Amino acid sequence: MTAFNPSFADKFTFGLWTVGNPGRDPFGQPTRPLLSPAEIVDLLGEAGGVLGVNFHDNDLIPIDANPHEANAIKREFRAALERTGIRVGMGTVNLFGDPVFKDGAYTSNDADVRAYAVHKTMHAMDLAAELGADIWVMWGGREGCETDAAKDPVEALSRYRDAINYLVNYSIDKGHNYKFAMEPKPNEPRGHIYLPTIGHCLAFIATLEHPELVGVNPEVAHEHMAGLNFTHAVAMALWAGKLFHIDLNDQEFGRYDQDFRFGSVNPKHAFNLVRLLEDHSYSGYKHFDSHAYRTSDRDDVVEFARGSMRSYLILKDKARQWNADPMIQELLGVINRDNSSHQLGSYSTESATALKEASLDRTEFASRPLPYEKLDQRTNEILLGV
Ligand code: NOJ
Ligand code: MG
Ligand code: MG
Repeated sequence: MTAFNPSFADKFTFGLWTVGNPGRDPFGQPTRPLLSPAEIVDLLGEAGGVLGVNFHDNDLIPIDANPHEANAIKREFRAALERTGIRVGMGTVNLFGDPVFKDGAYTSNDADVRAYAVHKTMHAMDLAAELGADIWVMWGGREGCETDAAKDPVEALSRYRDAINYLVNYSIDKGHNYKFAMEPKPNEPRGHIYLPTIGHCLAFIATLEHPELVGVNPEVAHEHMAGLNFTHAVAMALWAGKLFHIDLNDQEFGRYDQDFRFGSVNPKHAFNLVRLLEDHSYSGYKHFDSHAYRTSDRDDVVEFARGSMRSYLILKDKARQWNADPMIQELLGVINRDNSSHQLGSYSTESATALKEASLDRTEFASRPLPYEKLDQRTNEILLGV
């Protein structure tokens, strides 16, 4: 029996805004005291095995802090990192909280606001790089509109691209060497957001000046909000060599943003995801972008953090069991028929002629068994521990 204890090698990270979430929601006030950044790092230290902490610029330094206050916060934060052994993994910028961004940031209709958004991002990039971040996440929480009368969506994409090209060049120029990860989301509660899914982001990235430095940061909840299969979205990012970061949490289909603990809503989807990440040796950070129930107190928030990591490790062990299971292996052997003499290979006039002339018995092919019910039931039984 494994204890499922996380270690730094698992590369688990949490954002200051995740375990630090005080339980505020659109209808209610905070239900937990606000913790300072250093107190949040200590909480993660208590959870055990956490490699990294991530932050938006203003999670660490309030937007109106003076340099003296900023230095004091950084000092305390660094001290907490040192005493816990936790390091900074990913950095990002808050381009959504302040009223200046009510019409978007990089896509705002106001050129001054667009310039301010890029100015704020460059400062945020310096701050996170100074503290050790090597991944830069770009989540466009307000890059959209509540009414399409407001903006030309084609123009908005050009503005978005200009800003990202500028910021990637800034990172190169300053020697920050960030890898950028774009995080899509379809809506933020009322507005429609541009670049709503992983597929949209991948198509957009191909148009950038430095596409090699920009990948994606898929989040379970965000693809589920779009009604999509998250495992397939992540598979496409892996296949394209673009999975630079991942946000793990959970979400019921057909609901607004919930940010539940990873694996808490749909363990079978979570299992498929973990199996994919492990089978394809994903080696980046695994960030739990979620927050505890509104009813949780500090002790329960620690349990929430532990539970997130523990669920990942349990599912990783289930994936190992699945791969080693004799019945699964036997079924996979029946299903995957790769020993045909008709392999597609690369195109040539000769191979095309041969394939056109081949005698292929479609009735016989259609009669071959595909015992997917048996395979899925065995998968469920492994998951249920039977
Ligand atoms: C807050 C969003 O809710 C979250 O999904 C995103 O990953 C972070 N901001 C990073 O910007
Ligand atoms: Mg996220
Ligand atoms: Mg989210």
